[in-house]
Amino acid sequence: MSKLFVNVQNKKGKINKEIYGHFSEHLGRCIYEGLYVGEDSKIPNTNGMRNDVVQALKEIKIPVLRWPGGCFADEYHWKDGIGQKENRKKMINTHWGGVVEDNSFGTHEFMELCRQLECEPYINGNVGSGTVQEMSEWVEYLTFEGISPMADLRKKNGNEDAWKVKYFGVGNENWGCGGNMTPEYYANEYRRYQTYCRNYADNKLYKIACGANADDYDWTDVLMKNASNFMDGLSLHYYTITKNWVEKGAAAKFDEKEWYTTLKKTLKMEELIYRHGAIMDRYDPEKKVGLIIDEWGTWFDVEVGTNPGFLYQQNTMRDALVAGINLNIFNKNCDRVKMANIAQLVNVLQSVILTEGEKMVLTPTYHVFNMYKSHQEATLVESYIETQDIGVEEENQVPNLHESVSVDAEGRINVTLNNLSVSESYDIQGIFADREIKSVKGTILSNEMGAYNDFDAPEVVKPAEFIDFKITNKGVDFKIPKCSVIHLVIE
Ligand code: AHR
Repeated sequence: MSKLFVNVQNKKGKINKEIYGHFSEHLGRCIYEGLYVGEDSKIPNTNGMRNDVVQALKEIKIPVLRWPGGCFADEYHWKDGIGQKENRKKMINTHWGGVVEDNSFGTHEFMELCRQLECEPYINGNVGSGTVQEMSEWVEYLTFEGISPMADLRKKNGNEDAWKVKYFGVGNENWGCGGNMTPEYYANEYRRYQTYCRNYADNKLYKIACGANADDYDWTDVLMKNASNFMDGLSLHYYTITKNWVEKGAAAKFDEKEWYTTLKKTLKMEELIYRHGAIMDRYDPEKKVGLIIDEWGTWFDVEVGTNPGFLYQQNTMRDALVAGINLNIFNKNCDRVKMANIAQLVNVLQSVILTEGEKMVLTPTYHVFNMYKSHQEATLVESYIETQDIGVEEENQVPNLHESVSVDAEGRINVTLNNLSVSESYDIQGIFADREIKSVKGTILSNEMGAYNDFDAPEVVKPAEFIDFKITNKGVDFKIPKCSVIHLVIE
């Protein structure tokens, strides 16, 4: 029996809804086909955006969407993507798959997508190959209401009113595809570029500096030392890669050893947040600068027969556990983690949605986001679960259970609990300090470790009602099946 202790009186802070954010890049079939099919498509759409995908994303309450990249962001020149579509430049997407980018999805289309999704836009500007003027003008084009060359151009292109844009990224991976810069050089560039990203009228930008690649702690140190007074957020990118960058392993065909290695690798997120956070604390003890984990998720080998530059991969129960674990980690670190964006939204890496022509599949990862959505804007509370180490190799042991708990505005307690074992179920004794339990509603996502949804079998993995619990005078007792994610709503 593992004890789960919950103390709702010990409130730890607000879980920003943006922790449940997403990322969409001009990469493979994410934007084109996945989100945007154009007004003339036979696939049902509104102003070119797929209705099925928009509806599914609204269901999980997508709070924020990052665009246009990724590595693409530092090659993107936003003026190529405005004005009459027939006049927009056609070019090769050199970074991703060498396909034609016709720029038919640009600033207006992205803002229209966010309007339909009712989510915040998060725009990532170009430092690597763009100019200070170009970035400054993009902000002016988006957010300036008065008379100015860029506001006039926006009006000419059909948008009389300025948009509201809060989240603005100043470069992406500038230690790599965004210009191969040193942290000292980028810190100075960041200070310069962000100076000209103006706050017009009441549009206050939340400026995000490019942060570290995984465990590059020196990058965080230099950025915080030299530029923390000029930023609202500092990003962090960490992908869960089971093997190595050359041979990453198949997304849907793996053994128990790979299962535990993947989960071990994903649990590293905890250490990264702790260690980057400790450096940030030295320069920013009041935690004014948010840690923005704007790329995370699994990265496997592409599916056989697909364009290697498109990064298309299937999504199994293993991805569901990766999502559940990371979201629990972000919740538990909500004092520093202010946003996170899983990579990527549709058809790329750890997607919540896959599409093929007019068909759409919701992945196991989608279902986890749906089950966890009640944590958005809730208050994290103290929780602890007794665990034991499990796994098939000495060096890749993981805890068998992983949890986070929040209380929402109506006083409901949300428990999200993962069972990382592929073979064992566990008895849980939930103990809730100073809180009498009247009712429990449960949802479970569970299946064999390699189970996934595909276009001819879209409902192999789907959530079910979880009723196998007993309310006690201490809280609630239940058994969590192997390889599963559970969400309990307790009143
Ligand atoms: O998400 C795919 C790529 O991974 C992004 O373009 C880049 O920022 C990262 O290396």
